[in-house]
This record gives sequence, C-alpha cells and structure tokens, in this order.
Amino acid sequence: MSAATPKPLLPGSTIGIFGGGQLGRMMAMSARAMGYRILVLDPDPGCPARFVVDGCIEAAWDDSRGAAMLARGCDVVTLEIEQIGEHSMASAATFCPVRPSGAMLAVIQNRVEQKNWLVKHGFPAGDFRAVRTLDETRAAIAELGGRCFCKSATGGYDGRGQGKVGFGAEPGAVTEEEIRGAWEALGEGPGVVEKAIDLEREISVMVARSPSGEVKVFPAAWNHHENQILVWSVIPAAIPADLEAKARALAGEIADTFNLEGLLAVEMFVTKAGELLINELAPRPHNSYHQSERACVTSQFEQAIRAVCDLPLGDVDLVQPAAIVNLLGDLWLNPDGSPREVRFDRALAVPGVRLHLYEKRKPRKARKMGHLSAIGQTADEAVQAVLKAKAAL
Ligand SMILES: Nc1ncnc2c1ncn2[C@@H]1O[C@H](COP(=O)(O)OP(=O)(O)O)[C@@H](O)[C@H]1O
Ligand SMILES: [Mg+2]
Repeated sequence: MSAATPKPLLPGSTIGIFGGGQLGRMMAMSARAMGYRILVLDPDPGCPARFVVDGCIEAAWDDSRGAAMLARGCDVVTLEIEQIGEHSMASAATFCPVRPSGAMLAVIQNRVEQKNWLVKHGFPAGDFRAVRTLDETRAAIAELGGRCFCKSATGGYDGRGQGKVGFGAEPGAVTEEEIRGAWEALGEGPGVVEKAIDLEREISVMVARSPSGEVKVFPAAWNHHENQILVWSVIPAAIPADLEAKARALAGEIADTFNLEGLLAVEMFVTKAGELLINELAPRPHNSYHQSERACVTSQFEQAIRAVCDLPLGDVDLVQPAAIVNLLGDLWLNPDGSPREVRFDRALAVPGVRLHLYEKRKPRKARKMGHLSAIGQTADEAVQAVLKAKAAL
C-alpha cells in the first residue's frame, strides 16, 4: 500500500491479532460479522479466540518468527495485549501495517516510560517515582508520604504485579515488612511507586483514531473496582458535563499526540478535589467498554476493526445506558475448590440482561471468565439490573 494513496482494507481482507484472550475473541467476532478473516497469535492454543478465528499461531509474545508467520498471512496486524516484544512488532511490520505501532506500544508497555511520556507532553498524572531497587522503593515511599501503590514496570494487569503500603490502621504508617511485601509484589523491580490518590471515582475514556486521522471519542465510562480489579462499569458515567468534556478532550489529545492508529483506553482518576489524573493507558479494547456493545451506536470492538482497516469510524453516541459486571472464576468454585454450578438461567431471568462467556477452559480465582450486561432507563438502573443478575448466579 503506497503512502500517497491510502486505501481502506475492505471486508475479505485478513486481520491478525496479537493475543487470543477475550478481547481478541470479541474483536474477532466483530470482524467476522463484517466479513473479515482473522488469524491470532497466542501462547495458548486453547485461547478464547480459538473458536471464532480462521487460524491460531501458537507462539510466545517475544517470538519474532511467530510474529512473522502471523503477519505474512495478514493485511494488517493489531493487538489485544501490551506484552508483545519489540522484535515481534518490528518483525510483523516488515510484512504489513501494525496498528497501533511498535513505537507507541514501547512507550505504553512500560509504566515508567508511559508516565514519563504523559508528564513530558503535559498530561496530568499523579505523583510517582521510578524505582529499581528495594532501597529506592523505601525512599520513594518516604518521599511520597506513606500511603502508596507499588507497581511493576511491565506485565501487570488486574492489580497483579502491585503492592500497597500504608493502608493499615494508622493512616500513612508504613512498616518495613509492608515495603518488602510491596517490593516482592512488583517482582523486585523495576517499577513505579505512586502516591495513593484520594478517589472520588474512576472513569475511562475510549478513543479511536484511524490512519487517515479521523478521531472518535466515546462517552466516558464509570468504573467500580474492588481489590484493584474491575467489578462493574457503566456508560454514561453520570459525571458533570464539563468534567466529561474535559476527560474526552484529554483522551483525544493523547490519541493525536501518539498519532494513534487503533484504539486507546485512557483510565482516569477523579480526585476528591474534582481534578482529573491519568492513571494508565491501554492501546486496545478495554474491559470497561464491553457495555459499548449495547450503550453506543458502535461497539469498541467494531470500532477497533474500522480503525485498523482505515474505514470510516462509527458513531459513538449513546443509544441507552448499559452496564457490565465481570464474572470471575471464583463463581465457578466452591470454597473447598470443588466445581460449583453457576445458575445462568436465574441471571437471564432479569429483564434486559445478556450473558457473555469467553469459553475459558479452567476457572481460577480472579480470572475473568465472562460478563453480564444490562440496559436501563438510567445508568443507575442498568447497574442495579446487572448486579441483581449477578447475585442470582
Ligand atoms: N495511585 C493510586 N491511587 C489510588 N488507587 C489506585 C492507584 N493506583 C491504582 N489504584 C487502584 O488499583 C486499580 C488498578 O491499578 P492500575 O494501575 O489500573 O493497574 P492494572 O494494570 O492492574 O489495571 C486502579 O483502577 C485503582 O482502583
Ligand atoms: Mg488499570
């Protein structure tokens, strides 16, 4: 494809996806619905996308020969996970466009680089220190004033690779044991220590940008986390209109600054003081936008396909309030670890509720196995419906 005459990749083309987890699977299902063919690369041949794609290449994230095999068979390659090796990205890019780019991924896949990038470009982020040793971690915690999140630079997700300090009975007091525990949790470095933010709430904003430069910013989602893992999420976020506008503008500016090609989820903190801080970036579909399938004119998954194929982006206007709740592996397990029957029939009896399962073979504690979605007249009604359905499981 020559740079002078960019042409969209039309249905019938083949899209490659690094990663065949639930995000890759749902992207693939959207692509299929539009008549594309899909190949995925994943270390696990039984990955969730396996059942809905034309082919699955079994390879590690840093296996550049596997990446070449994927890209050789594709017209464009995208991703659903940040952990793709630099050489794999480069290797794929010798065969076809890779969207988002390896350069952008290199910044985002490392928390230190990501935060430095945000600060360098003037985007608001909380106080943090990059650390490489236990001593630096101890010093950073002292400097930031006690209550902190310690996170590994690479590879963390759903709160994994993170430790908290200073959340004990005495506010901000940190013991040496806590510091060592957090250092271990972040994989013994390198990592970042972040000052704990006094949160009013958490939101995210999904933005899509096509190679032609078209940008669409979704309505913000309001996200509820427990133990650093997303429990439920709803669109619209029910925040003041000026805050929503500010959050969406920030997401659009970040996408433009990166020259994004694809999707970017921007996780943000709303502080008790009403300030917006960027928590982290994810250059792919995001758990907090699963409800876009029902809340918005275009789902995040279809938008991802449109963006990477350089098609016109879809409208992102709100159709109706919709919420999701995650279904973790815990639901499938009794306290003694034996299999538990999950009563999906009861959840589906709640009006407006739909079930989404990822066909993961083994339920494990804290593993995302699926989600429920619900609609409502208001965001609150949608959340109440989806929580009621989950309680019935
Ligand atoms: N500095 C912080 N202050 C307050 N809460 C935080 C902070 N960092 C993380 N958290 C909580 O932990 C969750 C997960 O952290 P995050 O950095 O988003 O990592 P992950 O990659 O696991 O999603 C956040 O959504 C938030 O609820
Ligand atoms: Mg996060």
